[in-house]
Amino acid sequence: MKALVTGGAGFIGTNIVRQLLVMGHETVILDNLSSGYARNLVSEAKFIEGDIRDKAAVERAISGCEVVFNLAASVGNKRAIDNPLDDSDINVLGLLQVLEAARRHGIKKIVQSSSAGIFGELKTLPIAEDHPQEPDTPYGVSKLAGEKHCLAYNKLYGMENVCLRYFNVYGPHQRFDAYGNVIPIFATCVLDGKPITIFGDGEQTRDFVHVSDVAAANISSALTKGVQGVFNIGSATRVTINELVSIIVTAAGTDIEIFHGPLRPGDVRDSLADIHTARAVFGYSPGMNLSESINEYLCWLKADRLSTRC
Ligand SMILES: NC(=O)c1ccc[n+]([C@@H]2O[C@H](COP(=O)([O-])OP(=O)(O)OC[C@H]3O[C@@H](n4cnc5c(N)ncnc54)[C@H](O)[C@@H]3O)[C@@H](O)[C@H]2O)c1
Repeated sequence: MKALVTGGAGFIGTNIVRQLLVMGHETVILDNLSSGYARNLVSEAKFIEGDIRDKAAVERAISGCEVVFNLAASVGNKRAIDNPLDDSDINVLGLLQVLEAARRHGIKKIVQSSSAGIFGELKTLPIAEDHPQEPDTPYGVSKLAGEKHCLAYNKLYGMENVCLRYFNVYGPHQRFDAYGNVIPIFATCVLDGKPITIFGDGEQTRDFVHVSDVAAANISSALTKGVQGVFNIGSATRVTINELVSIIVTAAGTDIEIFHGPLRPGDVRDSLADIHTARAVFGYSPGMNLSESINEYLCWLKADRLSTRC
């Protein structure tokens, strides 16, 4: 299969690209490097530097492909709250450029990266696909709009688009940045011997899913015949943020000061994926355990930090 991975220089995208290449699939990356990294690129994959909002760039990248993994996005609640116009511009209008190009090229399947952010505050536990969808942030709204566009293209043009709602993804190639996720932030504090600040009381829960499980879900939902629709992709387990800190601190074998700050706007209290549908429809079976994978992540982060200092 020949696949296009938009956002393939990013954290999850590069993991999908690497799994595709190991499986022998020809792979093209379209990425504008706005939050991705040139050092995530792999020489075996063709790289086109460009924007998913640019029709010509998408046309060039999609030519000859049979499937598109659409990861390019403005990612996360904070970024979207800071800049809601950019968020919808990329996550909705950019996705429409990809959908339109796919339609013109007769491509049947886009695997769209959606988010548990479409649900908003938890009403039932665990969260099944039909849980009320009342996003609390512009990011959740744009991701929900993206899903609806993908599903409308299925109805209008007989496409078989899949939307995967990731919960909290972690693992190699996830770096600390201003909009960073909690694991790189805490891991960086621990490696630097700096105090950790937990927003709120730390008893909020999250479902952390390893990126290799997310990449496998992308590829199997693309390769399994007839799969379409929306699916939750989590680990079906949850930990409190206090437990997460303890796992990271223990793995690093260090002692660190812990402070509590105010809650962040848009953060939900609890999160836990019901993954029965993905398991039944395309054999999704997350195999990575948070406590066991944290060591691997700390090693990767240390090596990555060293390599950028050379
Ligand atoms: N990381 C998570 O926990 C998580 C959770 C839910 C959903 N997601 C979704 O997964 C996808 C990947 O997220 P990630 O964590 O790897 O983020 P990331 O920021 O590492 O990757 C996004 C990539 O898209 C590229 N990009 C951004 N705007 C672009 C544009 N207009 N044109 C071309 N390329 C563009 C960036 O340069 C980057 O390489 C996103 O769609 C995100 O919304 C991530």
